[in-house]
Amino acid sequence: MHWRAPLLAASVLVSGIPAVYGWGAAGHEIVATIAQIHLHSTVLPKICTILNFTSNNPDEPQCHLAPIATWADRIRYKMRWSAGLHYIGAVGDHPQDKCLYPGERGWAGHPGGNVLGGIRNTTGILKDWVTQGEGTYNETANEALKFLVHFLGDMHMPLHLTGRDRGGNSVKVTFDGRQTNLHSAWDSLLVAKAVRTVPAKYNHPLPNRQIEHNLRGAIYDSFVRKVMWEGVLGKWHGDVEQWLACPARSGPVIGYMLPHWAQVAFGGRSGRVARLVQQVFGHAYVDIGAPEMMDDEILCPYHWSQPIHALNCKLVWPKEIDEPPYSHAGSDEELNPRVPLLELDTPKYAGVVEKGWVLEELMAQAGIRLAGVLNWLFMDPVEGEPSGPALTINL
Ligand SMILES: *[C@@H]1O[C@H](CO)[C@@H](O)[C@H](O)[C@H]1NC(C)=O
Ligand SMILES: *[C@@H]1O[C@H](CO)[C@@H](O)[C@H](O)[C@H]1NC(C)=O
Ligand SMILES: *[C@@H]1O[C@H](CO)[C@@H](O)[C@H](O)[C@H]1NC(C)=O
Repeated sequence: MHWRAPLLAASVLVSGIPAVYGWGAAGHEIVATIAQIHLHSTVLPKICTILNFTSNNPDEPQCHLAPIATWADRIRYKMRWSAGLHYIGAVGDHPQDKCLYPGERGWAGHPGGNVLGGIRNTTGILKDWVTQGEGTYNETANEALKFLVHFLGDMHMPLHLTGRDRGGNSVKVTFDGRQTNLHSAWDSLLVAKAVRTVPAKYNHPLPNRQIEHNLRGAIYDSFVRKVMWEGVLGKWHGDVEQWLACPARSGPVIGYMLPHWAQVAFGGRSGRVARLVQQVFGHAYVDIGAPEMMDDEILCPYHWSQPIHALNCKLVWPKEIDEPPYSHAGSDEELNPRVPLLELDTPKYAGVVEKGWVLEELMAQAGIRLAGVLNWLFMDPVEGEPSGPALTINL
């Protein structure tokens, strides 16, 4: 277990090393910190067990989700099978002119071999840990937790939900005059700017122990304070419950109906049954139906991700990319040095993201959904508090 000092995250951010995948380190750690603020008090000890965190020294920091939030990116080339689990791409999806999620031809890759399946799968492994061996360290559960923290973050990055131009990685643009690509602008540069431009009043502690107790002296602490104070406890206060909600599975949905056992099995633990479902219902069916099968009444990554994907057509993918004079700057092969690159650090682009609190809301949603899933998995029933099959948060 490598407990990364908060200062390391800070230096990565300041030097602006462009990350090529996922939210950059800061983004993932912000999501994890927001999640930690919302954990039920009976949940953290179990997380500490899974992370093999032992400390008898009360002065040492408690175990925290932020230092494990980027593990999945670090091992991505060692565990190659996991690379496809960071994103999902609908075949034929082409923002801004055509936003398909999924399209008629379903998803790229294997059914379930995407970020929605990754969330479903790791949650299932952790559920097994709870029913089987809770209380002891288990390497499978350890990895599943580290993946889950990361994948829920990735799912809230809109460019992880489109297959066009490798999620924007091959769309060259500039940001504040520096050449970069659309994906990195969202991963790192917009996040770094948001962290840099937080009002100075948030450098000071908030009168809320639960928030302050879970900050780690990282460069983004003041950003987390702003998101919590003005967002989660402010303008989005009435929305938070809705963020956690999943649609009831009522009535047949044409094209997506599956017997209950198959839904459970596909979302559950048996790859053998998933293959059987595929044989029985046909390949095309499963390709299209897979995302719906990812969802149930409690955990519904497909449902949650739909409005995030829609942001690609609303504001993430700049229209200008497909119009002259920028329209040839998109792909590596076609890059012509004389074609100008679109600047994104403008009032019309970055300004709209900032004014709309777009990044702030995505990260708050990711953190709160992560906390909801972890609370649902690990929370002990407490007398006098509602229990049952629901995601709960703690504030
Ligand atoms: C768990 O932590 C203990 C104490 O730090 C260490 O000795 C042990 O090797 C760790 N186990 C694993 C599997 O990492
Ligand atoms: C998770 O995925 C792995 C690899 O595909 C599979 O072997 C395992 O059974 C899955 N577990 C659950 C709980 O979904
Ligand atoms: C860890 O958990 C996995 C999945 O639940 C299980 O197959 C495995 O046997 C467990 N390992 C140990 C050492 O308990």
